[in-house]
Parts: sequence; C-alpha cells; structure tokens
Amino acid sequence: MIPLIRPVFPTVESIVPALEEIRKSGMFSNQGPCYNAFCDALVSELGFPNVSAVCNGTIAIQLAIDSCGLRGKRVAVPNFTFYGTIQAILSSGCEPVFIDIDSETLTICPDRLSDKISSCDGVLAVDSFGSPCHYRELEDICATESKPLIIDSAGAIGASYRGVSVGGFGDAQCFSLHATKLLPVGEGGLVTSTESIHRKVSSLMNFGLDNGELIYPQGTNAKIDEMHCAVGLQSLKALNKHLSNRRAYARLYGANLDPSVKTQKLSAESNQATHQLFPIVLPTTACRDRVMRQLLEADIGCKVYYVPFTENADTPISFDIYSRIVCIPMHSCMDVSDVMKVCREVNRACLSGL
Ligand SMILES: Cc1ncc(COP(=O)(O)O)c(C=O)c1O
Repeated sequence: MIPLIRPVFPTVESIVPALEEIRKSGMFSNQGPCYNAFCDALVSELGFPNVSAVCNGTIAIQLAIDSCGLRGKRVAVPNFTFYGTIQAILSSGCEPVFIDIDSETLTICPDRLSDKISSCDGVLAVDSFGSPCHYRELEDICATESKPLIIDSAGAIGASYRGVSVGGFGDAQCFSLHATKLLPVGEGGLVTSTESIHRKVSSLMNFGLDNGELIYPQGTNAKIDEMHCAVGLQSLKALNKHLSNRRAYARLYGANLDPSVKTQKLSAESNQATHQLFPIVLPTTACRDRVMRQLLEADIGCKVYYVPFTENADTPISFDIYSRIVCIPMHSCMDVSDVMKVCREVNRACLSGL
C-alpha cells in the first residue's frame, strides 16, 4: 500500500525530556516554557515576524479575521479550498464572497478578485496545497483599496516567496499543525502577523484578556497546550528534511508523468512550494476517474481535493478543475520506487483511454 498521506511523528525518546519538565513544573498550558520555546524557534528558523501558536488552523483563521476587524463583514475567498477556510469565515459571522481561481496555480485569481474587491471588506486568500498564491498582486489590490489581506497558508509552512520563507506576507498568515501538514503536532495552528494584529490575536486567543484584564469580551480559549508544543519543537527539527524529500518527489513526478497530466504551477514570484498535497489535473473527468480506479486497484491512495464549498457561485474554473483533479501520494515515508510506481499506474490509465 502506498498511502496518500503519512504523518511522521518525532521519536518518543526525543519528547520525553520535555514531558518530564512539564510534569515536574505542573504547567500543562497557558503559554509556559514549551510554548515560548516553540514560538521562539519558529521565529528564528522561519523568520516569522510575530507568531501565536493556537489549538488548530481553523481557529487560527478565525482569530486573524477577528483581529483584522473583519468580524461580520464581507470577505472574498476562493471557492476552491478546504472546508475549514470557509467555516472560519462563517464562524466569524462573515459573508463569503466567492472568487474563482487561476487554472494554473489553482489559487485565487487576482483579476477576478479585482472585479469584486469593491464589494468586499477584506480578503482571505489560500496557499492551495501548500503553494504560495499571488502575494504581490493581492497585496497591491488590498493596499489600493485599504482592505486587509489574510492568507490561509495551512499547508505552506516552509514555502518561500521572493526569496524568503512565507509568514510575513499580507496582514496575517495562518498555518495548520494538523497531522497531515508539514509540521505535524496532531492538532494545532499558528498565526503570524504584524505587531498590532499579533497583540490582538494574543488577547483574543486567551479569553480576550490582557494582563488579566478583560479587553475583548468576544475572546475565546484557543490556546495550545505544552505537550503539543513539545512535539512541535521536535517536529521542527525535521522540517527541512521533509521539505527536501517532497520537493525531490515533486520533480520526479513532473519528469515522469505523461505530458497530458498537468501539475500545479508556482505563482510568479514563488520560489518553492511545500507539496503538502500533490494534485494532478487530467484532460477529462473520465480520465481522472480511470486514474483513480487504476490507483486504487494497485493499492495506491488517492483523493479528490479540493471540493468547491458551494455550487451557487460564479466560479467556472473551480468547478472545471474539481471535475478533473485528484491528489496522488506525497510524503516522506515514500521512496523513489514508490513515486515511479505511481507514475506508471497514472500513465497506464491515461494511455488506456486513447
Ligand atoms: C487550506 C486549509 N485551510 C484550513 C485548514 C484547517 O486546518 P485545521 O485542520 O488545523 O483546523 C486546512 C486543513 O486541512 C486546510 O488544508
């Protein structure tokens, strides 16, 4: 079996000393030593401007929406993303304004956003499958209109844009530390942002308190505990190794898949994606369905991502891509022979329809 995704957990021995410290200190949560060490390591390793670690990626997006003053407002968002992106918008009482995607990068299309930006209060873009979206164009549109830009970078931890690690673009970026992501802790998330947004996130995630005083009554409990931060600290040490494995497999897929199979393109100034998932787009729905049958028969995991959130949106590219896309295995537990086997099966299914 070659699974679609396979999370890698740090060795148990590497986490034991931190767990022992947590046990001795009696401090299991509330931003203790592991939380601070984890956030400091993220800032120094990934160049994040400011970071808050929270309980999951969906809540990270909600905190960013609230901190950017978008609660209850109209937020532009692609209709081609994981459900959590839209659910964060809905949970913040916002109205999603669905925007179509660019058929090459599979991320929000700046031209379609320009068409609708005047009717929106802010933008929530998505780094689809861990690939940075069109940051420069989106930042320009939002700056011209004085509207906040939040980026759902759930799977993009370790990606780079204009030569730097992502985390400092837009007003806030949100990451997921779910088991299926590049830095898995189980359940967890991050918000990186400007200093003023960071102060608000830090308070909102802790019951709206600041120095023990209630500042934001709409605050919540979004804290991550010390045990998850201990896992995160160890997982961070392996991030570069997992990124380079995935990038090598992505190159192999690109070189060995049939030319009729399209892979996701990087946006203009992106340097590197994370390949959190590896989508391929087939020429027709029939071909995509044949590829999926062939892979499942060969004991190879595959799944259709993303599913448009609503059918009631003027997003023809999103619907077309959805009808032809499938994600194929991508993780550090694979080896070169697995990648070549997946390529053989995909190519066989493509050619058998000719
Ligand atoms: C694009 C995107 N946004 C948001 C989320 C939600 O993150 P979490 O599962 O940590 O809540 C995910 C998780 O799969 C995702 O892929």
